[in-house]
Amino acid sequence: MLLDIVAVVLSYLIGSVSFSIVIAKWVKGIDIRQHGSGNAGATNTLRVLGKGPGIFVFSLDIAKGILSVYLGNTLGSNGWIPVVCGLAAIVGHNWPIWFKFKGGKGIATTIGVIATLAFFPALYAGIIAILAIVLTRYVSLGSLIFAGLLPVFILLFQFTWPLLSAALAIAIFAFVRHRTNIVKLIQGTENKLGAKKGA
Ligand code: G3P
Repeated sequence: MLLDIVAVVLSYLIGSVSFSIVIAKWVKGIDIRQHGSGNAGATNTLRVLGKGPGIFVFSLDIAKGILSVYLGNTLGSNGWIPVVCGLAAIVGHNWPIWFKFKGGKGIATTIGVIATLAFFPALYAGIIAILAIVLTRYVSLGSLIFAGLLPVFILLFQFTWPLLSAALAIAIFAFVRHRTNIVKLIQGTENKLGAKKGA
């Protein structure tokens, strides 16, 4: 039980390491949350700092998710702990203790978590999300499609209660964190990938 708690708390702390904030400060001396879309995430790092830093942040944010599930698998006493650790890392990314609880939208970390927990559902949702991004150039739309499809593909291909609960929680987090993107998508004012200025 103690190790379960340690794993979950560590996962939250790891998730709280907001690489977009750290790298933007390091590379350009800026707070990424005051530039572009204002989001502390890989997409906004790409927008504000360019491809290299964007891909670097994306990879590190994915790694946080993988590491948290690994911690849960190693230290946890039952099948719920890796799932709770993964969710804790996403919560940390979205509401980071190290950065006044103002973080990102959790998609890259979600990719790391769900690809480790349920590879094929993540792959299928990922393929459809990438297609949506390529066709529309809206990363936020792809992110929402990815998160929204996870519960469906987990139900279809890899159902367990811990996984379905995680996928539903992930979908709720994603829609809550993307609510301004959703409004902009509806209004037709959402940032497109490759567009110079953030909103
Ligand atoms: O994962 C974040 C992405 O879906 C949207 O980011 O910066 O365009 O709000 P952004």
